[in-house]
Amino acid sequence: MYRADLFEGLLNIDVVLSLAALLAWWWAARAASRFPHPTPAPWADPIDDPPARETPDERPAHDAPTLGSPADGDPGNGGTTGGDPTGGHPARGDAADGSPTSGHPARRDAAGEGPARSGAAGPGVGGVSAGEAGRGAVGGKPAGGRAGRDPGRRVRIRARILLGVLAAGTLLLVARTVIGALLAGFGWEFGADRVVVAAPLVLLPAVAVACWTVPRLWRLSSRRSPSPPPEAPLPEASHPEASRPEAGALPDGGLAPKAPPAGTFPARAWPSREPKMVWPVQVTAVGAVAGFVLAFLWPISPPFTGEALIVFTAHGLTSALLWNRLGRRARTGPVRPRWGRRALAAALVVAVVGGCARLSAEASEHPPVMTMHGPGLPTAHGSAHSPLFGNAPGSATPAEDPVSVTELTEPDTGPPDRRFTLVAREQRVRLASGAVVEAWAFNGSVPGPELRVREGDLVEITVVNRLSAAEVSVHWHGVDVPNAADGVPGVTQDAVPPGGRFTYRFRIKPGDIGTHWYHSHQSASEQVGRGLFGPLIIEPAGAPEREDVTERTVMMHTWQSQGRDRRAFGLADRLERLAVPAGRKVRLRVVITSPTPRFFTIDGTSFMITAVDGNPINGPSALSGVRLMLGAGGRYDIEFTMPDGPVRLTEAYALDSGLLMSPDGGGEVTPTTWSSPEFDISRYGTPAATPFDHTSRFDRTFSFKFDNRPGFYDGSFTLLWMINGHVYPDIPTPVVREGELIRLRFANRSRLDHPMHVHGHRMLLLTRNGRPLSGSPIWRDTVDVQQGEIWEVGFRADNPGAWMDHCHNLLHARAGQMMHLMYDNVESPYKTGGSTSNHPL
Ligand code: C2O
Ligand code: CU
Repeated sequence: MYRADLFEGLLNIDVVLSLAALLAWWWAARAASRFPHPTPAPWADPIDDPPARETPDERPAHDAPTLGSPADGDPGNGGTTGGDPTGGHPARGDAADGSPTSGHPARRDAAGEGPARSGAAGPGVGGVSAGEAGRGAVGGKPAGGRAGRDPGRRVRIRARILLGVLAAGTLLLVARTVIGALLAGFGWEFGADRVVVAAPLVLLPAVAVACWTVPRLWRLSSRRSPSPPPEAPLPEASHPEASRPEAGALPDGGLAPKAPPAGTFPARAWPSREPKMVWPVQVTAVGAVAGFVLAFLWPISPPFTGEALIVFTAHGLTSALLWNRLGRRARTGPVRPRWGRRALAAALVVAVVGGCARLSAEASEHPPVMTMHGPGLPTAHGSAHSPLFGNAPGSATPAEDPVSVTELTEPDTGPPDRRFTLVAREQRVRLASGAVVEAWAFNGSVPGPELRVREGDLVEITVVNRLSAAEVSVHWHGVDVPNAADGVPGVTQDAVPPGGRFTYRFRIKPGDIGTHWYHSHQSASEQVGRGLFGPLIIEPAGAPEREDVTERTVMMHTWQSQGRDRRAFGLADRLERLAVPAGRKVRLRVVITSPTPRFFTIDGTSFMITAVDGNPINGPSALSGVRLMLGAGGRYDIEFTMPDGPVRLTEAYALDSGLLMSPDGGGEVTPTTWSSPEFDISRYGTPAATPFDHTSRFDRTFSFKFDNRPGFYDGSFTLLWMINGHVYPDIPTPVVREGELIRLRFANRSRLDHPMHVHGHRMLLLTRNGRPLSGSPIWRDTVDVQQGEIWEVGFRADNPGAWMDHCHNLLHARAGQMMHLMYDNVESPYKTGGSTSNHPL
């Protein structure tokens, strides 16, 4: 099992467990509060409430209908506090309607038979005629008879069921805590919320449950039913309210008059609705609700400033209110529900929830115009000391010498070494399988034409937009161009309108070599998907003109064809065969252009990964039998010498496609099992000197935590992909100063991987899950941060500008996971937002 899969699995199990715990404890709290009252009906003489509203309903037989309800699985069925008008009450309601004279025996009967009836009676049976009551009583006799004669048995059963649920609920809580501890094993901030915040909210009250509730329930569950003293006085005779017709005016049909005597059973025999028995269960239930909210709706992470305080305070207050309520009830007896009030409360809840949803939907709406930075926008200045905890907030102090993005152009105005033109237009293309894609293409081909240049070249590329109705812009992914040539609409330029054109000029910096790619950065989540991308290869300055090598660029993509997803290498969504003479060097340049990561294997030969994101790996060793994983935007250069037999490049989840190479183009290879160990780039290759490492003194450290939760983004409900609890444009903008050494720390608490891409810079990987890299120095422009992983990376702030910094799962970026790296003296005159035509993602 892979680390990321394990982490994701734990998160998912945890959500299910938290939901199950919530349901179990909620049910238990309701059931516990419905046990009969211990003291002999002091409420028979109600003090606080008007008599018409206050009803005795705690006599055991009376309770009988309720007793059935736990087994029915409907906590709402509770009779004693009258939770539900549908079940449980018919017999009582009927009996109450009966006339005092004829009704009397029937009433007793009905009350006794209640449970049997309630089991069968559907909604709407309640509150009919006395005749109905009779029938109900008779009909219920066979089943209900036993219970009617021995209500103590029902209580025992009910107590046992409740004990069982409490045990199960406790197991769920313990399991959640174990999962929290396991998650914390991936990194403290992955499980701290469960261990430090959620667990105490449930485990402490669960101890109280064990001390107070369980012994009482235990006694109830094992007690022999006390037999009713035959001479017990009937409550109807002694109770002034009992025969009053006003009981029938109770909203759910009333039930006062027909119950058997309170004295039927010694009240002390029913140690029950005392606060000490009910309250711990209720408090645990409230904690379980909090646990679910924290697991699913409101992920929090250390240092929990404020958040934990809110949670604990809310839990404490709710617990105090419940205690107070139970105390009141113990004195006055249960209050019959007032349906008007209940409806009002429900309406209030709906209004509040609806109002909150509406407000947060509105609050999430993007302003019609947004700028990259400026007064009023949140910024972060990182911290020099604590890489673990957050980014010091700062204000956008205007630098003395502001530079506009428009000035950050290629200084060399001379004739370019290489010149290209890319024309974007709609183009229908066919995949190898024949599936038709309504693509958008550069120069009529998908992927777009390969741009091959040399290290040090001055490059000029003109992009012409012939799309019928969409703007376009092009970003040179992995190439550290001057900011003005970065191709991000609303940040470094205005999007190119249909019919328009834009020229990009940049000189390839020394050392900037290898496999890169270009793609549209206007509505990138859509336009890259449609095909506006292509390879950009930079040859090292000293490379021979002609190399004796078979080279293939494999752009792993997901196409939309007739509403279906199709995974392909370029346009090949079928197995492609290639004849390569034995002994020849093969170089595969793998580029992930899809939003989701790709898992792939190479079978039939050992191979080397010679470069990642274009950057050469020092002393790569031969690999075989490993699973390769590469996130969106990332590149691997893979090299091997062609053996006599066939070699196959296969992508998981697309086993019937792939690239098969062999001397004669024939043959077969079975792909390695997908459970083979995953390639670990942090231990690959040979160490070498680097300009800085994980022990260096960094001028600033920015810490980013990734979470996901449901919520509103720009007015619509979706799954949010968050950075430090925020989504764009509310994520504080990291601000740096030219020349500084910057460290970024990425911790992924969410359910999916996040390939974090920083424009304009290459990052040196420093540590993976706290462990320094042990192999070759690894430089990347897109860092795969898998679920449950923590990466630290460093770079020198040597390329002034406003640089996008986002997840290259462009769908995540589109849903909030993007920000900008700002140099403190740079200003951008460009704007994004709904009222502009600049939409970078
Ligand atoms: Cu390849 Cu901002 O992206
Ligand atoms: Cu992401």
